[in-house]
Amino acid sequence: MRSDIQHAGQVNTAETTMLRIAMLGTGFIGRFYTQALHGKRAQDRVQIVFGRDARRAETFARQHGIPHSTTSIEQAVRAEDVDAVVIGLPNHMHEAAVNVAAAAGKAVLCTKPLGRNTDEALRMLKAVEEAGVFHAYLEDLVYTPKTLKSLQSVRDGAVGDVLWVRSRETHPGPHSDWFWNKEMSGGGAIIDMGCHCIEIARSFIGKDVRPVEVFCWADTHVHPIEAEDHAVGMVKYANGAIGQFEVSWAFRGGMDLRDEIAGTEGTIWLNHWLRTGIEMFTAGGQSGYVSEKAESENGWLFPVGDELTALGYVDMFADVLSAMEESRKPREDFYDGYVVNAIIDAAYRSVDSKRWETVRLPLWRGREDVDRVGALREYDANHLLIKEEKMPDGTTKVILRHKESGKIIQQTQ
Ligand SMILES: NC(=O)c1ccc[n+]([C@@H]2O[C@H](COP(=O)([O-])OP(=O)(O)OC[C@H]3O[C@@H](n4cnc5c(N)ncnc54)[C@H](O)[C@@H]3O)[C@@H](O)[C@H]2O)c1
Repeated sequence: MRSDIQHAGQVNTAETTMLRIAMLGTGFIGRFYTQALHGKRAQDRVQIVFGRDARRAETFARQHGIPHSTTSIEQAVRAEDVDAVVIGLPNHMHEAAVNVAAAAGKAVLCTKPLGRNTDEALRMLKAVEEAGVFHAYLEDLVYTPKTLKSLQSVRDGAVGDVLWVRSRETHPGPHSDWFWNKEMSGGGAIIDMGCHCIEIARSFIGKDVRPVEVFCWADTHVHPIEAEDHAVGMVKYANGAIGQFEVSWAFRGGMDLRDEIAGTEGTIWLNHWLRTGIEMFTAGGQSGYVSEKAESENGWLFPVGDELTALGYVDMFADVLSAMEESRKPREDFYDGYVVNAIIDAAYRSVDSKRWETVRLPLWRGREDVDRVGALREYDANHLLIKEEKMPDGTTKVILRHKESGKIIQQTQ
């Protein structure tokens, strides 16, 4: 077991050894996180788990081979043999848990959304930075194998300049009471799922490019709640790129996770959940769990081979815990969570005002000097190329714009 823990949650060692974790929360995400951490021959271990109900916490500990359980967040965080704290608690509890971890000098890994709003997220960022502890924002969906591959392709220039990223997360609604309570969750489908979509788009467009404005529509179509169960928003970036998010707690048919990246030189379409490569029909033989938020256990089903990996949890913890060992920043930290919260706040303001709303970022660490995306293509000394197309009769048609007069002409070759 690791004993060379340095101050401020940072581990100074060249070799990879076991990291010991306090898991706060025994719910839906606590289970996924613990399974990902303990999966296969993984070396890191959850050492203690916090749950508000003692019996449930004990059962969770027994099921996952965790040595200790507690009903005290303080006790879980302050345990001597804990290197890092993972927060898998309802949104309204994130800030208090972060403060306990920061005060104890422990590394802290917080699930999404970081805060219920920008102010909360900024306070959390300041708390961990002032305490000097390692921090990570657990945004699993930027770590799915398909997303990692696509991000690399985009970075290598496969799609040219990224112009538009469309990210969609829809399902019939979340699984616990507190999500539906606007005060506890901070909102509805936008804060719950828009946070994923926004960070996916930021990752493709460039996290150093400032999000400038948001336009968002939202409504409550189906569920008797104060918050929105449906929304579509557009986030405009300083380089002219657009991130579009589509979220719903009213979608029927399971969980729909899709992303599209459109660039000047190419396109990527990702389907993470409803068309994963396994399509199975059962007239009634199948029973039990199929995949997250599947609505049916028979008929046509779309099971997922390895849910933990497909949702990014495995690669996320590999990056975050390695970053902690190597004293480097993980792909996502609290600063990213704060930027996402600022975009979401602008989206909520836009829903009310029905106008584009500025993204208010009291702290911005990215670039200001970005070039506009998109490329003008020169055709000849006098013309710019608008479009070139091979026609059904075998000819090639070019559509050109005269540089000075602006006149648009076509030529067939
Ligand atoms: N893909 C993802 O990254 C993902 C997926 C699901 C949930 N989440 C996030 O994880 C967090 C928890 O969500 P969940 O789905 O696990 O919720 P959940 O309701 O399944 O579990 C919440 C846990 O917190 C405890 N809890 C609830 N209310 C409490 C209270 N008032 N006091 C003390 N403990 C309390 C519960 O006992 C339970 O252990 C949320 O922030 C949510 O947004 C992230």
